[in-house]
Amino acid sequence: MKKNLFLFALILFARTTFAQQTDEVTIVPKPAFAEKGVGQFIINQHTSIVAKEPDAQKVAGMFNYFLKKQYGFTLNINNAAVTNAVVLNTSSAKLPNESYQLKVTSKGVNILGNRAGVFYGVQSLLQLIQQKGKQLSVPVVNINDEPNFAYRGLMMDVGRHFFDANEIKKILDVMASLKLNTLHWHLTDDQGWRLEIKKYPKLTAISAWRDSTIIGGYGDFNPFIYDGKKSGGFYTQEQAREIVKYAADRNIEVIPEIEMPGHSTAVLAAYPELGNGTGPYKVPGYWGVHNTIYNPGEPTFQFLQDVLTEVMTIFPSKYIHIGGDEVPKDEWKTSALAQKIIHENKLKDEHELQSWFINRIEKFLNKNGKSLIGWDEILEGGLTPNATVMSWRGEAGGIQAAKEGHNVIMSPNSNMYVDHAQAKDGKTEPLAIGGFLPLDVVYNYNPRPTALTSDQQKHILGVQANMWTEYVSTNNKLEYMLFPRAIALAEVGWTKTENKNYEDFASKRLPVVLESIERSGVNYRIPEANVVITDDAPTKRKRITITPFVADSKVYYTIDGHKVDNTVDLYSGPFLSPITNGRPLTLKYIIVTPENKTSNEFSVDIK
Ligand code: ACM
Repeated sequence: MKKNLFLFALILFARTTFAQQTDEVTIVPKPAFAEKGVGQFIINQHTSIVAKEPDAQKVAGMFNYFLKKQYGFTLNINNAAVTNAVVLNTSSAKLPNESYQLKVTSKGVNILGNRAGVFYGVQSLLQLIQQKGKQLSVPVVNINDEPNFAYRGLMMDVGRHFFDANEIKKILDVMASLKLNTLHWHLTDDQGWRLEIKKYPKLTAISAWRDSTIIGGYGDFNPFIYDGKKSGGFYTQEQAREIVKYAADRNIEVIPEIEMPGHSTAVLAAYPELGNGTGPYKVPGYWGVHNTIYNPGEPTFQFLQDVLTEVMTIFPSKYIHIGGDEVPKDEWKTSALAQKIIHENKLKDEHELQSWFINRIEKFLNKNGKSLIGWDEILEGGLTPNATVMSWRGEAGGIQAAKEGHNVIMSPNSNMYVDHAQAKDGKTEPLAIGGFLPLDVVYNYNPRPTALTSDQQKHILGVQANMWTEYVSTNNKLEYMLFPRAIALAEVGWTKTENKNYEDFASKRLPVVLESIERSGVNYRIPEANVVITDDAPTKRKRITITPFVADSKVYYTIDGHKVDNTVDLYSGPFLSPITNGRPLTLKYIIVTPENKTSNEFSVDIK
């Protein structure tokens, strides 16, 4: 009886301490389980990090890295228990990979998990820190968290435009804070080769550079016009290794992509003997699918295997991506060598020749302990035995591959192509490749297609957004295209489907992350505000409510059709539309953030 009473009291106590205020935990991606309690833990100059195991000590170092970056200080690291501490415990964890428990009381913080799990616990903790004047505090919380998908990726195309190592590191820091764990590094394309390969120096002397780059979009100028500027660059092996380590410290694996047999004109410009005799070749300065592809002869395999051998010494990832997308077969149709190989190997057509090509590369990679990933075109002509498919032309390829028992990463262009424009009217946005991919369409994506049985769904390793850079040549634009959509991606990859809700994400968590991203000097697109227009029955006018999605930002607006800037009305709360006698009006508004960043001008019809 006594014991029961005690238990009852304990439950009551627990209930009151951890009242259901889950909504106020604004961590992104939303955790599997989070309860906010009463009170806070104060971080002061006597607070230390307790980390005993080597793994915990590594994470402690990363905790200090992010603390320093965000708040300008670090904490002492102890390997013995002390009070007033953030305890990182990687020793007793029987938790699955990347899962963690985070407990904050008024006395201290405890994080439990494996190395990746504790790292993510630290990321959640960093998001929970509140700053008032000089004081930092963390609310009392209890979090049990785990990922929905093991693969949560972002692809960066550095072939079309080169981004230097510092920019890649900047993106990796944001990825880590969002619990994204894979950088798919698209290192080669028609317009540029970006990795030093010691055996083939012309790849960096010639293939990494183009004379000139097309200006504007494809339809803008006919014929195309060019900027007349040499463009390019590459990573030395040392720099690439440094990126791999930098990423690994942040629980991010880097998967390199070496494109074949298409998207390889830049290589042919340096080594024309690997083409189909259609040269001379030069590194092109315009986009699209190019006909110039590798020939399927022995010297090509020697070259690719030599390249991959060096690639494997730089990238410890289990996977190597070999492209395989958008390979026009025209050159193989007219090549005596290609036709001879088709005949000798009793292949049906050029699609089977591509499959044969990929099969040889897969055998080579498998022999070296690596697994092959390819874009969904590798299904054409028959999938190689162990390949993982990256589904980009919608979900069909991924569904087919999963049904055939292959692992799949979902990155459909319908939901995951962050090179597409962020407004329906492309003219209101910076030049993009086309398309329209708003934030909610990214957010609402479910990478487990209902066309698959639950057993087949187990082949879906995860999800990835793709940042192609034909029309992205500056760091500011790269970040503008990535954010906030990569923030939505984070919840697609991590958050349990039943815990996902776009309104909840956009109104409660997104504003906090965007403010933090802005403070850390990362560019992003300020999203349209939530504009709600209702009928105001007594006055027969419209009531207009504008809620921006960056915390503490201001809204300026007009409703007379005129330009908006900071000279017009400042929004201070819901207001009534003018008396129009039924005439329609257009609300125009801009959002200005706490750091004085101004949004595009947005407009909404008031009808
Ligand atoms: C692709 O977008 N060509 C994979």
